Amino acid sequence: VTSPIAPVRWEHDRLILLDQRLLPGQELERAYARWEDVADAIRTLVVRGAPAIGVTAAFGVALAARSSRATDAGALLGDVEIALKGLAETRPTAVNLFWALDRVRRVAEAARHQPVADIRQRLLSEAQAILDEDVAANRALGDHGATLVPPRARILTHCNAGALATAGYGTALGVIRGAVERGKRITVLADETRPFLQGARLTAWELVRDGIDTTVITDNMSGAMMRQGKVDLVVVGADRIAANGDTANKIGTYTVAVLAREHNIPFYVAAPLSTIDLNTPDGDHIPIEERSAREVTHLGGAQLTPEGARVRNPAFDVTPHRLIAGIITERGIFRPPYTESLARAFAAQAC
Ligand code: MRU
Repeated sequence: VTSPIAPVRWEHDRLILLDQRLLPGQELERAYARWEDVADAIRTLVVRGAPAIGVTAAFGVALAARSSRATDAGALLGDVEIALKGLAETRPTAVNLFWALDRVRRVAEAARHQPVADIRQRLLSEAQAILDEDVAANRALGDHGATLVPPRARILTHCNAGALATAGYGTALGVIRGAVERGKRITVLADETRPFLQGARLTAWELVRDGIDTTVITDNMSGAMMRQGKVDLVVVGADRIAANGDTANKIGTYTVAVLAREHNIPFYVAAPLSTIDLNTPDGDHIPIEERSAREVTHLGGAQLTPEGARVRNPAFDVTPHRLIAGIITERGIFRPPYTESLARAFAAQAC
């Protein structure tokens, strides 16, 4: 039995991150003591995936409080606010980042009359709670999602929405793991996911490690696979789901959704409620991160494109809600019309 993947964890007063840039070749963990270095780790994709980014940022704030020299609550909260702002500037699309930072900000503010040692402890406990809740949410959504999966399903996924992208277990891969744990014989087609290769490097690494039958395809093969009848359903993760169900996820997800519609293959999104942003009305309002051209022009040290060619590198795209058969969450599977069903999900949570 392989031990569960823990991409983000707290140990001996340090934040430990598994360096995802080095997988699958090398399993290297790095220890962090300063929030500025944590922000850098998020920006440079040492850690990536919407829920994992949120958890990491929360621990980043806890580290800022621990390393602050402040002796009174006012000064400590000032230092915490600087870290909150700095961490919020790392990546714009995944709403889990802002959701987690809001959560720790509220904890800091509620504790503003407490001794500084208590504020520090509460921030750390909150970060750990965000981590633990994420694993529990993924297991629950995996349970719900597994009910949608036929006994011998061939599932296509894009990018990595696995244990590595979360605090553990995964969202899209949580659904796959949930189905496997119920004894279903699942085979997975993993899109390679240019340019950072999350599918080829990370999804394949996780699934092979768990003994799940996995075939990597390049991004431009998914249409042919669908046309040949080799895909029963698609499940992907999300970086931000707007109030109307429009979903931002890794660039190329939209293409897969359009192809799935053409071939009458159900296309599902799996995500915890922390990825749903009712304050963003629709996909047009989701900020899309544009990353460095170098991710496209180079593969390792090798240059792929000629000097002078312009390059685009949007990290995410938006899949319109009408292409999504269901949104799988820890509170169950939500169906269209999403404006109503997603609002109800949060109303139920408030009770
Ligand atoms: O740029 P990344 O690797 O952070 O993008 C990750 C994705 O797009 C994932 O599919 C998404 O965050 C969901 S993770 C459970």
